Amino acid sequence: MTEPPESAAPGPRPDVCVIIPAAGSGVRLGEQSPKAFVELHGRTILERCVDQISGLDAAVVVVAPADLVGEARSLLPPQIRVVAGGAHRSESVRAGLAAAGDAQIILVHDAARPLTPASVFHRVIDAIRAGHRAVVPGLPVADTLKAVEPIGDDLALVTRTVDREPLRAIQTPQGFTREAFVAAHADDAGLATDDAGLAERVGIPVHVVSGHPMAMKITTPWDLSVLRRVLHSGEVGS
Ligand code: CTP
Ligand code: MG
Repeated sequence: MTEPPESAAPGPRPDVCVIIPAAGSGVRLGEQSPKAFVELHGRTILERCVDQISGLDAAVVVVAPADLVGEARSLLPPQIRVVAGGAHRSESVRAGLAAAGDAQIILVHDAARPLTPASVFHRVIDAIRAGHRAVVPGLPVADTLKAVEPIGDDLALVTRTVDREPLRAIQTPQGFTREAFVAAHADDAGLATDDAGLAERVGIPVHVVSGHPMAMKITTPWDLSVLRRVLHSGEVGS
């Protein structure tokens, strides 16, 4: 009997799993379909998001709305796992974790940030491999920040100006060792929208690497129109 050719042997399974929560309904976007299924320059937001990391050596788990699991499967390459999400983001993330196999590095990346360059994933993964337990991408804040006290309809009183120097606007993918991720979520019965926040709560140090402007999140119709124009003009970063 002839041995199968070497290339037919399955390679080692990737030790990184990217969980993509895509089970939200996109209320603030206000489109007919849930946000991940909205069209962005000829393809769905979900397809673009997954496509950005097609070259990454990682397993990918997409968490879709329960009634759109089949639809998500039909849009995505066959090696991508698709599972049903829950009513809140944290439930969707935990559904993703249950399908993440035994990967030792877990990244959580919102489908709502579909043009995030692969370089951001690499920075997060590299920092985890360098020994950090929780790593998030962030950008310096450009706007002047002031704390206010609301005093009426569209009127507020400034109570102080906040020093923006030590502040970062945090994006995804947020990366964790499996141990840190499980510890962070073990305690969460609530509605957390920030996985790193859960890690902080249980005393896990969270480190920040550089994010990227193209990792911007689509929340409102304005955000969607910005990314549509970016794609139309071909100004996509790397
Ligand atoms: N998400 C999820 N499951 C939920 C809620 C949110 O997987 N039950 C995902 C969204 O699909 C999105 C990410 O979490 O990729 C960030 O959430 P957000 O931007 O708030 O998206 P939506 O919840 O869909 O939007 P909205 O809050 O406007 O309804
Ligand atoms: Mg939401």
